[in-house]
Amino acid sequence: MSPLAAATRVLVTGGAGFIGSHVVEALLARNVAVTVLDDFSSGHETNVPDDPRVRVVRGDAADHDPVADAMDGCTHVVHLAAIASVERSMNDPIGTHRSNLVATLQVLERCRVVGIERLVYASSAAVYGNAQLPPVTESGPLSPSTPYAIDKLAGESYLRFYEHTYGVPSIALRFFNVYGPRQVSDSPYSGVISLFMRRAAEGAAVTIHGDGLQTRDFVYVGDVAATITACIELEGTPTSTIMNLGSGTPTNLLELLDAIEDVCGTRVERTFAAPRPGDVRHSVADVTRLRENVRQIPVTTLMTGLRSLESVHRRVE
Ligand code: NAD
Ligand code: UD1
Repeated sequence: MSPLAAATRVLVTGGAGFIGSHVVEALLARNVAVTVLDDFSSGHETNVPDDPRVRVVRGDAADHDPVADAMDGCTHVVHLAAIASVERSMNDPIGTHRSNLVATLQVLERCRVVGIERLVYASSAAVYGNAQLPPVTESGPLSPSTPYAIDKLAGESYLRFYEHTYGVPSIALRFFNVYGPRQVSDSPYSGVISLFMRRAAEGAAVTIHGDGLQTRDFVYVGDVAATITACIELEGTPTSTIMNLGSGTPTNLLELLDAIEDVCGTRVERTFAAPRPGDVRHSVADVTRLRENVRQIPVTTLMTGLRSLESVHRRVE
């Protein structure tokens, strides 16, 4: 890892969103200038730090002109803009495809023209589907089972194509289930931790899809932002350019609810509904590659992460 040159400017697509806003903060903390490209479809202006080192471009990452404008003067790119809900991609495969794949191609094409030094791409654990027993490794089989996962995997293939054919250096990080402050909690498509924490704070019941024994690898957003920043700073080419980004710890939904009850000091009523179509049963990362290549692996335990989230929810009420 080395300090970045003073001329470094990082484009963060989706920088007004949940993960993106933490990445912007982490880069500013390392004194790196940032450009944010966002269409504010799920991101918020209030998520973007009011800082003279931040330039904001409002526009669709699937369109040529806003991407060209945003990448002007940039040396690196973190491409996060996408529609993050797996369930929404089942309900609207065509609507989500534009943001989840066309935007990736548009960003890559501009990276080629500009000669970007490195692109870091938000892929997903969803590309594994149910193909492997956990913990899943990057070299094992893949089985994307939703339009969201198919688009993310196609994005990885485009990264490889642009790297091999045009020399655009890139790293694809397969994020597992990211949670933490600023994750939207009031949409039916919100991530399960933000939804359940909100319900717990309101004293309302939660809905569990399936038997609640499905597992997820919940990874704290501060750790994700730190790893992305480390990937931008990484010297030379890593031996692996596709890496899992998770905590390596499985938690099922019933265990998650017990932890939420503990942290919030309330009992949460549960109702059970049908499993979601395409839902992955078990999802846990093997983080060996990340440890070997980037040395910046997630460290925040679920209880510590939930406590920090609970204090945010408490302040908001
Ligand atoms: P988010 O919805 O908070 O952030 C996405 C941001 O992208 C938002 O600010 C939104 O306004 C913007 N955006 C969406 N479509 C756009 C477009 N076409 N043009 C410009 N901006 C657009 O979601 P998030 O959880 O922060 O997810 C960030 C990235 O990480 C996504 O690519 C998502 O697929 C990926 N990811 C997230 C998780 C997770 O658990 N949250 C896990 C794996 C991968
Ligand atoms: C999440 C991310 C996705 C990412 C993937 C990587 C979100 C919105 N989705 O998808 O971007 O690529 O992780 O692993 O952040 N559930 C309930 N009740 C609810 C909500 C959810 O039982 O009210 C269940 C779901 O059926 C699923 C689990 O909780 O089994 C997690 O769901 P969700 O938070 O939507 O995330 P993923 O689909 O895993």
